[in-house]
Amino acid sequence: MRHTKVKDLLNSSSTLHEVNAKGWVRTFRNNQFIALNDGSTINNIQCVVDFENTADETLKRITTGAAVSVTGTLVESKGAGQKFEIQVSKLEILGDSDAEKFPMQPKKHSLEFLRENAHLRVRTNAFGAIMRVRSVLSFAVHSYFQEKGFVYVNTPIITGSDAEGAGEMFKVTALPFDNTPRTEDGKVDYKEDFFGKETNLTVSGQLEGETFAMALGQIYTFGPTFRAENSNTSRHLAEFWMIEPEVAFNDLNDNMDLAEDFIQYVIKYTMDKCQDDLKFLEGRLLEEEKSKPQAERSEMALLEKLNFVLENNFKRVSYTEAIDILRDSTPNKKKKFNYIIKEWGADLQSEHERYLVEKHFKCPVILFDYPANIKAFYMRLNEDGKTVRAMDILFPGIGEIVGGSQREERFDVLVEKMRALGIDEEELWWYLDTRRFGSAVHSGFGLGFERLVLFVTGMTNIRDVIPFPRTPMNAEF
Ligand code: 4AD
Ligand code: MG
Repeated sequence: MRHTKVKDLLNSSSTLHEVNAKGWVRTFRNNQFIALNDGSTINNIQCVVDFENTADETLKRITTGAAVSVTGTLVESKGAGQKFEIQVSKLEILGDSDAEKFPMQPKKHSLEFLRENAHLRVRTNAFGAIMRVRSVLSFAVHSYFQEKGFVYVNTPIITGSDAEGAGEMFKVTALPFDNTPRTEDGKVDYKEDFFGKETNLTVSGQLEGETFAMALGQIYTFGPTFRAENSNTSRHLAEFWMIEPEVAFNDLNDNMDLAEDFIQYVIKYTMDKCQDDLKFLEGRLLEEEKSKPQAERSEMALLEKLNFVLENNFKRVSYTEAIDILRDSTPNKKKKFNYIIKEWGADLQSEHERYLVEKHFKCPVILFDYPANIKAFYMRLNEDGKTVRAMDILFPGIGEIVGGSQREERFDVLVEKMRALGIDEEELWWYLDTRRFGSAVHSGFGLGFERLVLFVTGMTNIRDVIPFPRTPMNAEF
């Protein structure tokens, strides 16, 4: 007999004569009631064991964590909180679990402890919910772009170029470490390497994405991205997933419209599909916030906050306006910021971004027209000669969630910029070709997928929204 998912059993329209369910025991109470979970939903199904006719040996093996198969009748439940339960007629232990040693005890565990057990934490309510929400969100990403006729492009993971010019790349090499071939002047001879040149894991698929936008019109990427920045923060991963749409003939305003519409769509989609999980995560967050001082608690509950993002336009503010606001702000005057904003041109730190979003505007903010010298080489220079058509979207509790821009489409201006920054024109000959042949205005952005999952789930550490996080000094599993 084929087993039925717990979710389908709980949603059944009627009682059923014979059903089979398979899953893992969450708890076993009074030698009689199994709370069974199979991952299809946050909800467990109660399975009532006929303990009088079950061998003691078998009852002893029904422990938290054990895998079991139950066959029986789906009946209306007399207990509170569930419509149906299974009256078990046949019980099979598929895999025992040592109750004493099983790390996921039915009690509250710290997130730190769960991170050390990332292979088992997904068996908890919270992580089951987070991973289902993550899955639905990623489907929503494809759904949005596919509905709009964007082409999904798989840009390379191994690349020879550094899109962001930040030098935070992981090298990819097949050269031996002990006997590295050297050039005459003693440098590593990458000509001898696998690809015959120096290669890295990609920090962004944008540059390759742009070449495709210049033929297919509207494209998006959604793939793994790697950054060797040594930032041990709650918002940085060394391996994360990024979504990068790129659209021909879009200017910066179109780009902002697209980003806003896209984010609202995926949040709405997920709220519709993940009601039980989000309700659970909202409760988890409320519980967590109780232990915080009043001033640090968020003003809105999770679902209210998500609805707020759907119902309100993102506030669009130029970098110059933002600097004025920050310079006059209380934490700046009282020197509460770690980095005091003194003048125009300063790079914004996450403390500033969060002040703007959480204290000043109290809504998502799109900052645009940043100083050219704090942004990447490919952004379009404004007529003022000192700002570029960049945009960052800032979210409450997260800070920067999106970084994007209108691209410099003018060949001469782009080359001049690359020369000034010492970027090798020969390395990027193919990128420059897009400006040589049929160049046009175009724009795009990158959204950090895990930061979006953080926002939607109400979690606060990025290590808790990716299955197996990679961070400095940590690549377990
Ligand atoms: O702002 P970034 O660096 O922009 C780019 O890479 C552009 N090439 C995107 C484009 O225009 N196509 O990164 C984009 C987003 C950030 O806003 C952030 O959400 C996320 O990627 N991000 C990270 N997420 C997790 N861990 C990290 N180390 C991240 N670095 C960036
Ligand atoms: Mg950025």
